[in-house]
Amino acid sequence: MKHLDIEKALQSKEKKSVVVCGWVRSFRESANVAFFDLSDGTSFQKLQVVVDRSALSVDAACTKLGAAVRVTGKLVPAYKGEGNDLNAESFELLGECPPDYPIQKKRTTLEFLRGIPHLRLRTNTFQAVFRVRSVAAQAIHRYFHAHGFYYINTPLITASDCEGAGEMFRVTTQPWNAAAKSEEEYFRNDFFGTKAGLSVSGQLEGEVAATALGKIYTFGPSFRAENSNTTRHLAEFWHIEPEVAFAELPDVIELAESLLKYLIKAVLKECKDELKFFDSFVEKGLIDKLTHVATSKFAVCTYTEAVDILEKQNARFQFPVHWGSDLQSEHEKYLTEEVFKRPVFVTDYPKEIKSFYMKQNADGKTVAATDLLVPGIGEIIGGSEREADYKKLVSAMEERGMDMAAYKQYLDLRKFGSVPHGGFGLGFERFVMYCTGIENIRDVTLFPRSVKNIM
Ligand code: 4AD
Ligand code: MG
Repeated sequence: MKHLDIEKALQSKEKKSVVVCGWVRSFRESANVAFFDLSDGTSFQKLQVVVDRSALSVDAACTKLGAAVRVTGKLVPAYKGEGNDLNAESFELLGECPPDYPIQKKRTTLEFLRGIPHLRLRTNTFQAVFRVRSVAAQAIHRYFHAHGFYYINTPLITASDCEGAGEMFRVTTQPWNAAAKSEEEYFRNDFFGTKAGLSVSGQLEGEVAATALGKIYTFGPSFRAENSNTTRHLAEFWHIEPEVAFAELPDVIELAESLLKYLIKAVLKECKDELKFFDSFVEKGLIDKLTHVATSKFAVCTYTEAVDILEKQNARFQFPVHWGSDLQSEHEKYLTEEVFKRPVFVTDYPKEIKSFYMKQNADGKTVAATDLLVPGIGEIIGGSEREADYKKLVSAMEERGMDMAAYKQYLDLRKFGSVPHGGFGLGFERFVMYCTGIENIRDVTLFPRSVKNIM
């Protein structure tokens, strides 16, 4: 269908005759003129279409909120604001929109919109969220490409549980009532002849690639059957996981900080209209926050230092903290929002509360791990230096009662030319939340999947 994108129509220097298509986002009229705001998704700003009612009568169906129309007209400098308006010469209805269209001006709370995921993208908030999401995704590839990382695709169906937390969705073709005398027989009869699931992380295969290609990253979905119905957990989320050979924990931290700053700068530069909108309607001061974060140093503190700080505040927490306890979201938020007031890398966690693959520190108690905590969200990145010593890795796996045979390939990496290496995982949706101020992860995802919810 020959037509001009509204983004181009708004910016065109040449005041020419054009055809545009879009959905009616608002309509108002007076005795002599009528105004339409038209959106085709190509720009955050709408195109104002002006109708001289003495010269042109418009079919009532074209004026309905949500109707799809094609308009021919002449571009003229905007009556108000920047860009162009369109003086309409003719209208054609492409798709009518009856009055039961659920996106009416009054009812559009985020909660209400969650019930109509197939239509909510027609609102300003979701248009802005998904533009930021797209810009950030492109910037991720640009950053890694510019820094010599290879983009690799790790399998989504796997037989090994990376985080070892038993949060894998099972993949099976067995009928619900498959008869088996034992668990072993049940899985032997299954599609892969063994227990398989959806991967919680591409890290283990990422390490395979990094210990040959040097610097790699993955950017794809991860799946977690976590029973946590929170505003920051999804059962299916997108995961950015760089993995680097010849790298230790400080290198991992440096990479994480540099990537985040690059991404924030890209969003600041390429999503100006969207950020202005979020700053006005979602999180006051958002642009200042992002500008500041993009240019100032992140804080770093050890888990032990963090616990010292938190223990003094135990009275305020639902879950009091002591050395050895996992940090809950309330603790993470306190550290980053009240103590450091900026992103903070917490490092060197007790080995018992972290994964088997993390490098064991010389103190025998902690591992070279780091979580990056940010105000408003808490953990946005989890990473570590990996255990490169064969014997130490085996003993960590034995302590956890893991099935060694399932990790033979992973152990081989420590046998044949083992090197210090590390990486991290950045939750893409959590990053988009941070950049937009949106407080519920379900509102930065097209079709969010979470416990008891697969609309
Ligand atoms: O901290 P996590 O579990 O770390 C890993 O999976 C490592 N294997 C990563 C690595 O070192 N390559 O997850 C990493 C990040 C978290 O910090 C969080 O941002 C995000 O992934 N994440 C989730 N995001 C949404 N919903 C969930 N259920 C998430 N679980 C983790
Ligand atoms: Mg984590």
